[in-house]
Amino acid sequence: MLYRVALIGAGIISRNHLDAIRQMEQLQAVAVADIDESTGRTVSKQYGIRYYADYREMIVKEKPDIAIIALPHYLHEQCAVWCAGHGCHLLLEKPMALSTAECDTILEAVSKAGVQLMVGHTQHYLPANLQAKALIESGELGKLIAIHDTRHLYYFNENRPAWFLDKKKAGGGILMNLGAHSIDKIQWLTNSRITKVKAALSYEGERGNVEGSGCIFLETSNGVPAVIVQSGYTGVAKDETELIFSRGMIKLISAKGVWVSREGQYEELEPREASDPFVLQFKDLLQAIQSKTEPDSSGQYARSVITALEAVYRSGETGVEQQVDN
Ligand SMILES: NC(=O)c1ccc[n+]([C@@H]2O[C@H](COP(=O)([O-])OP(=O)(O)OC[C@H]3O[C@@H](n4cnc5c(N)ncnc54)[C@H](O)[C@@H]3O)[C@@H](O)[C@H]2O)c1
Repeated sequence: MLYRVALIGAGIISRNHLDAIRQMEQLQAVAVADIDESTGRTVSKQYGIRYYADYREMIVKEKPDIAIIALPHYLHEQCAVWCAGHGCHLLLEKPMALSTAECDTILEAVSKAGVQLMVGHTQHYLPANLQAKALIESGELGKLIAIHDTRHLYYFNENRPAWFLDKKKAGGGILMNLGAHSIDKIQWLTNSRITKVKAALSYEGERGNVEGSGCIFLETSNGVPAVIVQSGYTGVAKDETELIFSRGMIKLISAKGVWVSREGQYEELEPREASDPFVLQFKDLLQAIQSKTEPDSSGQYARSVITALEAVYRSGETGVEQQVDN
């Protein structure tokens, strides 16, 4: 079967989805919707698909099998509910929504409509992450003792769309956006859920009203302590996760590779053959649709990332450790 796909939001991430669809025989992109006509028409022309300003009109006219939702975070809930109500399977970009309550509304709509929902937690498909996960699961390095995840990049740069820096529209700053990836990565690598967090945030960005850094201590449901440190201020650049075991360490750098220390010194592993993470993501979605089983990154799973993020912001405000109730 050929699945017809419509894309909602023609912004930065839209091309990753459309490039992946081009590589897949079972998928055909048919249309794109964006309220910004110039952005929408540019993508429409580049990929030879129809353009709509209004996503509702697009869904009604095109009747796609799958809708990809790549909108600002505050629009995820209303768009997901609407598309599910019109019978579309959903690939909804991360973070799932602004709050656990919004996630629940989406989950209810998806369940009522009997469609599949997958949330775009792309960490599950990055080659270095997959290689590190296989090594963790092999047990070769002993017991996983701790995780140290660091992500620094200039978050307030002038090219970042303004909505990302507006708390009401984005739900938060660097932590809501990139912290969502780190929380997901820790949960996914450890096959667990975050159960406790203690966070300290700062608000020193030159634009907007969102946090620009965070230092978070977390615990997973299988007892692994983890630390996430992120900064979005100027002069910073780092994207590394270190996993400390009873018999060694792993360092993984998402776009670069994986290093292992067995004797106290890191050695780079031979990289695996890399597949496009967005192709792997679509393969999982198709598998879920065809087998009528929930994907790895299901709505329920993605909700757990939002629940943990809510606890992070609560802890940042109160200065007190928070339980995460999933
Ligand atoms: N998985 C990843 O690694 C990854 C990477 C980047 C972004 N994202 C996520 O993808 C989503 C989109 O991010 P982005 O960076 O592409 O943002 P963006 O601002 O570049 O794109 C959003 C687009 O939505 C359009 N839009 C806004 N309101 C609309 C409406 N009502 N109807 C139709 N179009 C509308 C905007 O005009 C814009 O073109 C976010 O959830 C973001 O967190 C995920």
